[in-house]
Amino acid sequence: MHFEFTEEQLMIRQAARDFAQNELKPGVIERDEHQKFPAEQIKKLGELGFLGLMVSPEYGGSGMDAISYVLAMEELSKIDSSASVVVSVNNSLVCYGLEKFGTEEQKQKYLVPLASGQVHGAFCLSEPEAGSDATSQRTTAIDMGDHYLLNGTKNWITNGGTASTYLVIAQTDVAKGHKGINALIVEKGMPGFTVGPKENKMGIRGSDTHSLMFTDVKVPKENRIGEDGFGFKFAMQTLEGGRIGIAAQALGIASGAFELATAYAKERKTFGKPIADHQAIQFKLADMATEIEAARLLCLKAAWLKDNHKPYGPASAMAKLFASEVAMKTTVEAVQIHGGYGFVKEYHVERLMRDAKITQIYEGTSEIQKIVISRDVLK
Ligand code: CAA
Ligand code: FAD
Repeated sequence: MHFEFTEEQLMIRQAARDFAQNELKPGVIERDEHQKFPAEQIKKLGELGFLGLMVSPEYGGSGMDAISYVLAMEELSKIDSSASVVVSVNNSLVCYGLEKFGTEEQKQKYLVPLASGQVHGAFCLSEPEAGSDATSQRTTAIDMGDHYLLNGTKNWITNGGTASTYLVIAQTDVAKGHKGINALIVEKGMPGFTVGPKENKMGIRGSDTHSLMFTDVKVPKENRIGEDGFGFKFAMQTLEGGRIGIAAQALGIASGAFELATAYAKERKTFGKPIADHQAIQFKLADMATEIEAARLLCLKAAWLKDNHKPYGPASAMAKLFASEVAMKTTVEAVQIHGGYGFVKEYHVERLMRDAKITQIYEGTSEIQKIVISRDVLK
């Protein structure tokens, strides 16, 4: 066992850090305020290979490992989680799902443009009445012989308006329960597919979250991923890796807030000395540093297991559960360390605090991660 990164991993981390400082930081407050999608920044991230970080070069990706992905997600999320969520969804839900389970034709047609950053994708599992209870799919994909007829509504879809390729989970055979669910590749512009208005959110306000409506959308049979009835397992297996991405996002939000709080504590003076000289502040920083390091190790452990082809579902659930709780706690304390300045937008920590909250909700709430972990512990 060793705790050192390779040169390549360090290079990715530095590239992500530079990108976050030079390209994401300028305008991040305004994008948050006006709910503006970071379109230019996503285009550049695509050109630099961040949208297909773990995809094989054969399919237009960068061929990096999951450890590099964690390092990149941490750095990008220190500054702008509205951008990093696009990196996470495209890499670990959309590209991974296609590369691992897609046919060669699907990879050539859909994965190559997604992994090379020409376009980005969306992963569509949640519905108005099926969030945590993901097997309760109401969207139907009726088998019509050479195509599926897709009807229903998906909720809260990240990249809902800006994506070009959508992986949609839907029920084909209700009698078979979760074994009657399929995953279909749907293209923007297919007749009958409409995008609802953008959600007005508490956090990650720049990210593009929409409901999607499908009315008699004809999806060719060749767009089904895997065997008939594989859709629910497809979603669950894909989410195992997705949760590493969101865990690393939470880690980045926490470490971004910690860096800001530490710098501020050294600068701000009360009672004739920097607030960093007050033990109450020192202890807050000590707790933050310790918890962030623990979260980082859980993220890296899950990534290492994935890279080494070992089971990583429970580890990714632990990383997401812990890192998202640390993100929430750390950002609240970072605002506290900033006093009144922390409550205004220019100091960045209030945005990080609002952004932290979503990491406890999407890709499975904290309660769902506990279900995944406890089932593993008790099996
Ligand atoms: N890998 C493979 N198969 C799995 C699996 C996994 N990780 N987890 C479950 N399965 C299989 C089970 O083995 C079972 O199959 P069999 O009957 O053949 O054994 C089947 O799936 C059903 O499993 P469960 O009985 O465990 O199903 P459940 O109804 O109890 O639900 C759950 C399990 C873990 C709670 C699941 O519903 C879940 O993960 N819910 C949360 C949904 C979620 O994370 N949504 C995220 C949406 S994407 C998103 O949010 C993106 C974003 O924000 C950016
Ligand atoms: P519910 O499932 O209704 O849960 C409500 C509460 O009950 C939660 O606290 C939950 O933890 C708790 N709860 C539920 N069941 C149990 C239980 N058995 N035991 C204990 N507690 C329980 N989904 C996608 O498919 N694709 C996306 O790209 C996507 N992006 C999103 C982006 C944003 C900004 C948001 C807000 C959501 C996004 N989601 C996406 C949806 C997200 O995954 C769901 O919101 C989440 O899974 C929770 O589902 P729900 O909102 O229906 O809450």
